[in-house]
Amino acid sequence: ARIVILISGRGSNMMALVEAIERQGLPVEVAGVVSNRPEAPGLAWAQGKGIPCRTVDHHQFADRAAFDVALGDAIDELAPPSGRPWVVLAGFMRVLTEGFIARYPDRIVNIHPALLPAHPGLHTHRQALRAGALLHGATVHFVTPEVDVGPIIAQAVVPVLTGDTEEKLAARVLEMEHRLFPMVLDWLTANRVTVSAEGRALLDGSD
Ligand code: GRF
Repeated sequence: ARIVILISGRGSNMMALVEAIERQGLPVEVAGVVSNRPEAPGLAWAQGKGIPCRTVDHHQFADRAAFDVALGDAIDELAPPSGRPWVVLAGFMRVLTEGFIARYPDRIVNIHPALLPAHPGLHTHRQALRAGALLHGATVHFVTPEVDVGPIIAQAVVPVLTGDTEEKLAARVLEMEHRLFPMVLDWLTANRVTVSAEGRALLDGSD
């Protein structure tokens, strides 16, 4: 299977994916990494690994639609659409248009640092603390046009502890993200995940 990873910054989830592929010998080729920010630290790391990298800077486009066309073109150049690559959003901080999503039906996945449907959007750790949540975590889901509501593939849970700050909680969640995302990538690329007619993600066709 081929994947293209989209990042916007640090890229620790991307690193966790690449390292899991190497360590576990997963039959997955990282065809490329695309960032919407030229200065994303994750890009330099991927380059150092010899992974083809592209920047599609959203500042250079008049609108979301134009950016998304260029983004899709960069992805297709790295991994031809005929090979049905997976588009893996790993800390990619741009909302995608319906037009972009339609280019890769049921092939785009995202990691969100909260237990969806709780705490969609930004500042998820702050949201969880303010809500007094005792449990928090991360979700990997298919990307659909409505933000953070696509079919949930898997979640990982962490406790919220007394004295937690946003930073402490974020670090605890991130550690789980780094375990959850490679696990889901393995399922996806082994074709173990399907989306039902009702729009639910099913593992091995189970219910
Ligand atoms: C992660 O917590 C991800 O879930 C969120 O932003 C963070 C990105 O971190 N969307 P990194 O770039 O993968 O290190």
